[in-house]
Amino acid sequence: MIRTHPPATMSPPFPPLSTLLLFSLLLTSPVSAWKKEEFRDCNQTPFCKRARTRAPHSIPSLSVSSLSLSDGAVSARLLPSQLLQSPTDSTPASPRALTLRLSVYTPGALRLEIDEDYSDPDAPSHRRFRVPDVLLPDVDDRHKLYLPRISSASPGVTSFYLPYGFEAVVQHEPFQIEVRRASNKEPILSFNSHGLFDFEQLRTNKSDGEDWEERFRSHTDTRPRGPQSISFDVSFHGADFVYGIPEHASTSLSLRPTRGPDVDFSEPYRLFNLDVFEYLHDSPFGLYGSIPFMLSHGTKSSSGFFWLNAAEMQIDVLAPGWDDPANPSPNRIDTLWMAEAGVVDAFFFVGPETKDVVGQYLSLTGTPAMPQHFAVGYHQCRWNYRDEEDVDSVDAGFDSHDIPYDVLWLDIEHTDGKRYFTWDKTLFPDPVGMQKRLAAKGRHMVTIVDPHVKRDDSFFLHKEATEKGYYVKDASGRDFDGWCWPGSSSYPDMLNPEIREWWSEKFLFENYKGSTPSLYIWNDMNEPSVFNGPEVTMPRDAVHYGDVEHREVHNAYGYYFHMASSIGVVKRGEGKDRPFVLSRAFFAGTQRYGAIWTGDNSADWDHLRASVPMILTLGLTGMTFSGADVGGFFGNPEPELLVRWYQLGAFYPFFRGHAHLDTKRREPWLFGEKNTALIREAVHVRYSLLPYFYTLFREASTSGLPIMRPLWLEFPQDKETFNNGEAFMVGPALLVQGIYQAGEKSVSVYLPGTESWYYLRNGVTYAGGRSHKMEVFEDGIPTFQKAGTIIPRKDRFRRSSTQMVNDPYTLGRTNLSKKKFSSECLIERVILLGLSANAKKAVIEPGNHEVDIELGPLSLRAGSSPVALTIRKPNVHVADDWTISIL
Ligand code: NOJ
Repeated sequence: MIRTHPPATMSPPFPPLSTLLLFSLLLTSPVSAWKKEEFRDCNQTPFCKRARTRAPHSIPSLSVSSLSLSDGAVSARLLPSQLLQSPTDSTPASPRALTLRLSVYTPGALRLEIDEDYSDPDAPSHRRFRVPDVLLPDVDDRHKLYLPRISSASPGVTSFYLPYGFEAVVQHEPFQIEVRRASNKEPILSFNSHGLFDFEQLRTNKSDGEDWEERFRSHTDTRPRGPQSISFDVSFHGADFVYGIPEHASTSLSLRPTRGPDVDFSEPYRLFNLDVFEYLHDSPFGLYGSIPFMLSHGTKSSSGFFWLNAAEMQIDVLAPGWDDPANPSPNRIDTLWMAEAGVVDAFFFVGPETKDVVGQYLSLTGTPAMPQHFAVGYHQCRWNYRDEEDVDSVDAGFDSHDIPYDVLWLDIEHTDGKRYFTWDKTLFPDPVGMQKRLAAKGRHMVTIVDPHVKRDDSFFLHKEATEKGYYVKDASGRDFDGWCWPGSSSYPDMLNPEIREWWSEKFLFENYKGSTPSLYIWNDMNEPSVFNGPEVTMPRDAVHYGDVEHREVHNAYGYYFHMASSIGVVKRGEGKDRPFVLSRAFFAGTQRYGAIWTGDNSADWDHLRASVPMILTLGLTGMTFSGADVGGFFGNPEPELLVRWYQLGAFYPFFRGHAHLDTKRREPWLFGEKNTALIREAVHVRYSLLPYFYTLFREASTSGLPIMRPLWLEFPQDKETFNNGEAFMVGPALLVQGIYQAGEKSVSVYLPGTESWYYLRNGVTYAGGRSHKMEVFEDGIPTFQKAGTIIPRKDRFRRSSTQMVNDPYTLGRTNLSKKKFSSECLIERVILLGLSANAKKAVIEPGNHEVDIELGPLSLRAGSSPVALTIRKPNVHVADDWTISIL
């Protein structure tokens, strides 16, 4: 195994030659795996340790006063009954009141805001950070449409009606909020019912002998504003499981408890965007992106909770009995949320179905962007395709092996010394010609653009950014200088809208020399990754636009960078293009700007397995366009693993093969004829399903429903599915079961619901609501189509998706329907599953034209034998109104 990152201890800005030698040695010397000691655990993170060791109701409580309805919201003050914090904490001498606001932004979404009272003369002048640009621009005005009304007021408790039959109940002393059904008063969500709400108020002065600095390894965080963390408990009532809060690698779809009796994980789930070298496949440790949105599901109800806060967050899922082992509370999941800074800006989503919860969340943060058709095809990447000749030969290899693909990717080595927006002139002397050759076959190219800018005075980007003062500053006010791929680097301050505007212009064809309209963008290392920074990232006391400390905005830095690049691509296309930009870091709202992938996974079976819960979780939290590196980034997959990965990856929303610089080449035809044929077949499955995938992307862009879905999203009452992270639905019609072990001969597949399912290998019917032992074949993984559904396909294989645009459709039918859109395409085949063999003829209208029903294959794959009734060449236009009646 090869280490890609220099050690976190390397110091900036210009390393001596000996350090450079060490650096290059480290790049090529073998290491084992995840370096736990490079990262903080909860005990090494003071705010986490403080919050986690508090007992329920041990903090002096707060009480609600001056409650009133004004400007479409409920406002109140939260008064500390005595000191705000427990005596063991670093304690402000005189706590002030906090402000509280409750409002409704969308039916089913209640917003809770708690902040300092800045009108208090003792309040510090610095305002705590609220993350801008994540909620849709119209959200702030929406609450006036849904005015809360007081439904009952008794001493100490005020209740409000919310739209759609819900109520919010505010208990004044001790302060607590419950959201419940108005009809039967059943609780759905509660806030602070365990009395764990704590809000460390900003202070200007330290108490005697107090030290605000924090040290980790060789790094010191100056923490000039002192402790400012917030923590609270949230309970999900009627929940069997909780899900969400990506990004973590896990083999379990539901979030396993992190505290209480019999837990697997002893650390809380961490949300802190980090570049983690060789991450573990099953850990609550934080990875590249953060979406602080959790969903609960049970047979009784589904609900959700979102905390809009970009500071480091740690979240405990508390096992029943965590507070009182003798009395574990049934039918409720308690959670503890802790963040280093920010404010309480939180949303409660009442469902009642999970699809409603996802919709309520996306009505605030936006539905996913609709990708271009080509982006739904297969992407071929590796670190690195060496030069133009290599690009041409890989491209030709796909053609000569009859494997379609759409996009060829260039990693960091294509640049002139890791100066993004440039080309290595020796290796890539004619980038325009190279892109045009690909474009002639309907193919596209993606180049990488990372946020670290090489500190080289002759580099135009660095010169401009320096002159304009566009870099993030270090704690002493100088341009922050950290170590990344180019060596000494600085990072544009993407929080500033003016800098985002400047950055977006860099993608214009006249600015990005050598780019053409068929070139798209990949944003990597945008956590941001800083090799010599604390935990391989930017120091928390670095300073952004508006005097915002990096600690306050950390988890959204990559989001802003992705946003600026994505806006650049759309601007370059004069607003007519869609934003295909792949990002590694992400935050709530990233779905509006493009795709993400799960970073540097490893070529082993466990990582293959973990990819499914990871992508399902991303889909539930809005990030529908996601995938994992097919084949695994680190290491060399054995051919069987690679084939299984293609077979599974063909169903990921984002389907890309990628590999580390030091791995063996692994283009699909390098593993012998048999494996080439198996991979070709897997890629063909994807290409034949492109119309179905593209339709699902369209659905995601309007409703937000994920493309790859947990079974329980489609079968919310089927308990068997609630923690199934091995099988998944693609849209509402297709169920896919991965194969996650070498040499697997059979697999048990649970088919949910009461309908039957058609095995797409042979058209045989299987009953829903039970598990079936299925024989495993090497040429595909088990896939089933739900009875009563139609899957549109295109079965003629060409070089790329672009070349298939006018090809006719095949309808895989268990029900007939009509469709309306503009196209010259014909339906060339309807495959009928589950129909009696007596059906011999069909009549096509208009025209009253009679055709035979024949026996045909399920797919056009060579050697497929006839197993299904087929109407060949109905030749109706897909865009017209037509009916086919079976006689
Ligand atoms: C890290 C990314 O995760 C990986 O995909 C990429 O190949 C390397 N950086 C080099 O750019």
